[in-house]
Amino acid sequence: MTYFDNTATSFPKPPGVAAAMMQFMDKIGANPGRAGHRLANESGRIVYATREAIAELFQAPDPLRIVFTANVTEALNLALCGLLKAGRHVVTSSMEHNSMMRPLRRLEQKGVELTVVQCDSQGALEPAHIESAMQSNTVMIAINQASNVVGTILPISEIGQIARKHNLLFLVDTAQTAGVLPINMEKDNIDLLGFTGHKSLYGPMGTGGLIIGKRVNLDAFEPMKSGGTGSHSEHEQQPKFLPDKFESGTLNVVGLAGLNASVRWLLEQGIDLVRLHEIQLAKHLLEGLESINGVQIYGQQEPAKRIATISFNIIGKAPSEIGLRLDEDFDILCRVGLHCSPASHKTIGTFPTGTVRFGMGIFNTLEEVDRAIAAVQQLTEALK
Ligand SMILES: Cc1ncc(COP(=O)(O)O)c(C=O)c1O
Repeated sequence: MTYFDNTATSFPKPPGVAAAMMQFMDKIGANPGRAGHRLANESGRIVYATREAIAELFQAPDPLRIVFTANVTEALNLALCGLLKAGRHVVTSSMEHNSMMRPLRRLEQKGVELTVVQCDSQGALEPAHIESAMQSNTVMIAINQASNVVGTILPISEIGQIARKHNLLFLVDTAQTAGVLPINMEKDNIDLLGFTGHKSLYGPMGTGGLIIGKRVNLDAFEPMKSGGTGSHSEHEQQPKFLPDKFESGTLNVVGLAGLNASVRWLLEQGIDLVRLHEIQLAKHLLEGLESINGVQIYGQQEPAKRIATISFNIIGKAPSEIGLRLDEDFDILCRVGLHCSPASHKTIGTFPTGTVRFGMGIFNTLEEVDRAIAAVQQLTEALK
């Protein structure tokens, strides 16, 4: 079987991830920060070790500024809904996933002003267009770092500089780039970084978080929920300090145990090595698909300007039909359709039918890419 659906969720996971989760379930199991006994302490130690690993990966200012959430969707909702008020203006791109776009559209209905900056037909964004969208009431730029549809990388360093120049908050959705591209919150001027555990961080589902930079005014940041934190139990008011202000309710410690193992594994491999492997896979797949008459590829052609997520169509054929044939006849698992991002498909001209998407990851090989190219070649011939 060839698993080319890593853009949705990575599979398989690195060695040690399942074992760390089993170890927690079998030997630890207790609630972190809710008691002083040794199992609760061990559980709390795992949570903190995960914060430290994540902080190292993103060069976060402090492990305690990481708020764990169930996924990046929850992290983006927390940042957007917690900070944007009616009458304020936010700028985003036309290549956003619905996890960014839907909360923004909901806020728009409540009086937040929204500008969606148009990307080109390859999904690329011109930083100057972000700057031209500035208004006197702009408070935030909120964008993804790489498209989950075509893999195009957005210039977050340049956009971060614009955010800093205009004294705006900069929120980045790293769903597709965490663990693949080097990310440095300080250097890239990122104030709010959303991540998800189950994609390119190779951890389990149900993990993710929001890292809150030091420029964010916590007093003006509303939590999405209130409740038990294990701290200051004498008060009926939510604590004001991080991460407890935003981390109510028992954490997914079994998931975090897995995320701790996967992020440490990634740090050991080195992000540069992961990136190099993915560039090789993307280059090989792009060259192979380009050589097939009747295949249209979307996004940037240059592997250095993209991640290893590649969208294409066999001209005249429905993506759903291709996906089914790839699965049933060639044992290749991928995703077809709109990939939860209608805005991206409108931008690249594939709305409403969508594309076939091959999402490759660290465990895919050049041999698998060869088999996929041969399969697409055969399907293109057979479906003529
Ligand atoms: C760019 C981007 N943002 C957000 C998400 C949502 O991720 P999750 O379901 O883990 O919250 C995805 C998932 O595909 C994504 O690719």
